[in-house]
Amino acid sequence: MKKGSTMEMYDIKDPQLAKTGQERIEWAQQNMPVLGLIKEEFAREKPLSGIKIGACLHVTTETANLMMTLKAGGAQVALCASNPLSTQDDVAAALVVNHDIPVFAVKGEDSKLYYRHIESALNFHPHITMDDGADLIATLHSSYRSQLPEIIGGTEETTTGVIRLKQMEKDGTLAYPIIAVNESRTKHLFDNRYGTGQSTIDGILRATNKLLAGSIFVAVGYGWCGRGIAMRARGMGSRVIVTEIDPVKALEAVMEGYEVMPIREAAKVGDIFLTATGNLNCIRKEHFKTMKNGAIMANSGHFNVEIDAKSLREMAVKTRKIRETVEEFILEDGKKLYLLAEGRLVNLAAAEGHPAQVMDMSFANQALASVFLVTKFNSKNKKDRLLNKVHKLNENIDQKIARLKLRSMDLGCDVLTREQKEYLDSWTMGT
Ligand code: NAI
Repeated sequence: MKKGSTMEMYDIKDPQLAKTGQERIEWAQQNMPVLGLIKEEFAREKPLSGIKIGACLHVTTETANLMMTLKAGGAQVALCASNPLSTQDDVAAALVVNHDIPVFAVKGEDSKLYYRHIESALNFHPHITMDDGADLIATLHSSYRSQLPEIIGGTEETTTGVIRLKQMEKDGTLAYPIIAVNESRTKHLFDNRYGTGQSTIDGILRATNKLLAGSIFVAVGYGWCGRGIAMRARGMGSRVIVTEIDPVKALEAVMEGYEVMPIREAAKVGDIFLTATGNLNCIRKEHFKTMKNGAIMANSGHFNVEIDAKSLREMAVKTRKIRETVEEFILEDGKKLYLLAEGRLVNLAAAEGHPAQVMDMSFANQALASVFLVTKFNSKNKKDRLLNKVHKLNENIDQKIARLKLRSMDLGCDVLTREQKEYLDSWTMGT
């Protein structure tokens, strides 16, 4: 693509929404102190000078702050959505109008436009790909292979994307190194647990305005996200049931005080069902059949595959949109079931995604991961270069982010004394 031409291109809903978007971006910025410090460092040192970054992330206020941080570091960035329903159109407008960042995303875009937008981000010829779910990298590895030699590396934000990329690594198709941001402790321990926990409840409430207290809430999957969701649903007064396929995690949920049972049993009693497994058809036809009248289903796993919406649609004699993000399905026997946000990420489609305080750490990881990729790529020592595998960020980066976050909260933690360090490093000292 000729120089300059891509920067003038974008596809967003309405540039006139920029003012509201800008104000909301600034609101988020106030709650992202770690990213703010990194931005200051980037503005001084320009570690991403000459680097083009193609990002496929949820187009939210927090992502806008990440884009501005990367730009401050000298990068050129282009952004497309990682989910057809998660785009905040006012934020997309502000990025284009106020920050000269090309964005290709419109809330509610169909699958064809979603992929066309991914292609637009690839037409920008990025050196680094930044994914949330691995759709950008998958498109690059299938229909844009000629651009693979231009790439120095990529980052991946979420569990589902990391699983896909590890599969690519395993079958030998991964053509460049990836930093699995999700594997940083300052990402999954906080974003997946506290971020998804709070924003999922927020999404359910905004979609339905239902009282959670006293309801039977079924958390399908007790991973990092599931733990957070179950914890927050309990905090709202729900009686929480956990379903799992991993016996260790099922046991953990029991010890945490939740009821645990197979989904077959939970289907009969639940009022609200929430999937966060990264897996396919966790709630399906056989379960819809036994659910109570009025049961509500939603998903917080990455793709819209966890609830078998296709079968639900086939079983229904009538459907209608009864609230903005609630679809009603009337079955043959008159029973009514409800699906939120088309079975897509309810926290992003019906609410605003994770709060900025938690994305502060996730996106600090993203920003530092892109610098890490550039440093490794430019290293004179060939041994230092990253192999075409899925890598974790260095532990010291994780610790730096946690330390900065604590400091921003006016909190501190202890450090090991020399004696303690020696004790931990040795095996000779016994009882
Ligand atoms: P995880 O791997 O920690 O947990 C997933 C859990 O689901 C595991 O314990 C697994 O045993 C369980 N599971 C798998 N199949 C199941 C089934 N059929 N029934 C019951 N349990 C089943 O993954 P994590 O980090 O909790 O992520 C889960 C999903 O959420 C992924 O798709 C991830 O990409 C997505 N995610 C969504 C976010 C959001 O903003 N909504 C934020 C972060 C992650």
